[in-house]
Amino acid sequence: MRRIVVINIKGGCGKTTIATNIASRYAAGGYGVALLDYDPQGSSMNWLRQRPLESPSVHGIAAHHAQHSVTRSFALRVPPHVSRIVVDTPAGLKGYKLSEQLKDNDVVIIPVVPSAIDIHASADFMRDLLVVGKARARRMRLAIIGNRIRMATPALHSFEIFLDQLHIPVIARLRDAGNYLLAAEQGLGVHELELPDIPEAQQDRLAWDAVLDWIESEPHG
Ligand SMILES: Nc1ncnc2c1ncn2[C@@H]1O[C@H](COP(=O)(O)OP(=O)(O)OP(=O)(O)O)[C@@H](O)[C@H]1O
Ligand SMILES: [Mg+2]
Repeated sequence: MRRIVVINIKGGCGKTTIATNIASRYAAGGYGVALLDYDPQGSSMNWLRQRPLESPSVHGIAAHHAQHSVTRSFALRVPPHVSRIVVDTPAGLKGYKLSEQLKDNDVVIIPVVPSAIDIHASADFMRDLLVVGKARARRMRLAIIGNRIRMATPALHSFEIFLDQLHIPVIARLRDAGNYLLAAEQGLGVHELELPDIPEAQQDRLAWDAVLDWIESEPHG
């Protein structure tokens, strides 16, 4: 079982977009996949409700509600066919609430939008993850996904130098594109949209292939 947590203290950086795209990409690859939504807004569960019945199946768990349920362990139960768990988290997690959301050996994916404000918050978040979250000692694998990239900015360049020093890879750079909105509305991943075979669509598909390749590149444990 591999657990992939999509997390950043910053709101609106693409956590749900990335969690739902990873989940649908795994499902398309024939994996049994569960999507856990810890956000009280329930955006990932909304996405799942739109998902066409004929699309490869993703098992949804409204983990936020389950946390407060008396039958908590039952509500959080992952079906036996599931081998990949993707976790969508709310914004604003820090300190022990952040630690609580993470388990040993997790793959931790941090979406970052290349604006100065987002980068600043994300740099602080990376420190929290390493210091309070004890990411290294708990053998987590951390990676950044640059999201909504329109152009290379000086702020982005200095952030990449900062990440380089921490040995944290940037595993994908996602375009800022209407396709992400289109896919989200239909409960799909961008790789599932039926589009003319233009270079941009190809670029999006390759980005998701790279994300899965990186996650799967090391044996679990
Ligand atoms: N690469 C992208 N291109 C275009 N739009 C995007 C992209 N990524 C995310 N969006 C849009 O940006 C908005 C915020 O994205 P998303 O909901 O995934 O962020 P979030 O981090 O989950 O937000 P929250 O903190 O509220 O949970 C959404 O409307 C989403 O469709
Ligand atoms: Mg979200």
